[in-house]
Amino acid sequence: MTRILFICLGNICRSPMAEYVFKDIITKKGIQNQFIIKSAATSNEEIGNGMHYGTRKKLDEMGIQYGRHIARKMTIQDYNNYDYLIGMEESNVRNILRIVGQDEENKIFRLLDFSNNPRDIADPWYTENFDKTYEDIIEGCEGLLQYILKKEYN
Ligand code: 4NP
Repeated sequence: MTRILFICLGNICRSPMAEYVFKDIITKKGIQNQFIIKSAATSNEEIGNGMHYGTRKKLDEMGIQYGRHIARKMTIQDYNNYDYLIGMEESNVRNILRIVGQDEENKIFRLLDFSNNPRDIADPWYTENFDKTYEDIIEGCEGLLQYILKKEYN
């Protein structure tokens, strides 16, 4: 079992998109039972809120299923409960480290560090460009899955 927590600032735009995109990829491959996939925030800004309309609209457009989402802030316990804590951008990684202290087990990563072109996921908060965010997230999730399959399942 591989447990992944996708993390962004508010847990309403990028990290839930990554959660449902990753779930969609592994479901289509028939390996969803080998994973636990969730998402969380580093801030209190949107706690209790549902997904941003732009994220829902993009997931609907792509035919990607999702359930009822309620934004949650990550906790120090998440470091033990997950194998991978995946930030969407560098500042998320810094905030995750602030919450958990040290990354002694090397579990904390930035999503697009698993791509051939390491960078931050495009933030749709000001641009409203959820298409670009989606393209980045697909690229990152595919890279992450390849990494995990190679490392953990050979
Ligand atoms: P997310 O988007 O971190 O991708 O969920 C944002 C949500 C809230 C804020 C910024 C980005 N905010 O400033 O409250």
